[in-house]
Amino acid sequence: MARPLTALDLGAGNGWLSNRLAQRNHNVGAVDLTLNDFDGLGCHRFFDSAFTPVQAEFDLLPFPNGAADLLIFNASLHYSENYLKTLSESLRVLAPNGTLVILDSPFYHDARSGGQMVEEREGLFAKQYGFRSNALKSRNYLTYSTLQELRAQLNVDWRFITPNYGLLWEMRPFKAKLLGGREPAKFHVVVGRSSD
Ligand SMILES: C[S@@+](CC[C@H](N)C(=O)[O-])C[C@H]1O[C@@H](n2cnc3c(N)ncnc32)[C@H](O)[C@@H]1O
Repeated sequence: MARPLTALDLGAGNGWLSNRLAQRNHNVGAVDLTLNDFDGLGCHRFFDSAFTPVQAEFDLLPFPNGAADLLIFNASLHYSENYLKTLSESLRVLAPNGTLVILDSPFYHDARSGGQMVEEREGLFAKQYGFRSNALKSRNYLTYSTLQELRAQLNVDWRFITPNYGLLWEMRPFKAKLLGGREPAKFHVVVGRSSD
């Protein structure tokens, strides 16, 4: 059996992924800012497996250098206000042969499509709740060129794994083009390893 890893689930929310990793005998820290018990770290008490909830900002991790074998940003990296800062801090904590995984963050070729998606989302939120919910300057999306810049700045090689979401999903870009809509987001599993 593979050895248990020390893993950090960064932006863990209610900790469901931490729970799944802990069920596989990994040593897991679930890191988030929120502590409530409906979508925050307080939910850890509802899970059977043992993992450690840690209230922290992912730009300032309370862990020593090289402490983790695996870092996962699951639907959370795009909340970062500064990808270089967030990922530099992650890499500080990552062991030299460790793996960084980014998943469930929206990717665009064209930053204008990402900007349009944010505009649409904030507009809907404002309609529903009366304010745009944009006090945090989260980046909200990634572009492929952003990731290439980060590759050069951080010396990380990225590998893209693209799950098959079915034909209808694959057709979305063509449909958008035909109807004059913006580029739809893509969601990859991005695996990063230090190239040093
Ligand atoms: C969309 S949720 C994803 C939660 C969980 N990973 C999942 O897949 O269900 C994003 C999470 O990132 C957390 N988050 C956002 N910015 C953060 C930061 N700077 N430091 C730590 N957590 C952060 C939020 O509190 C939220 O729980």
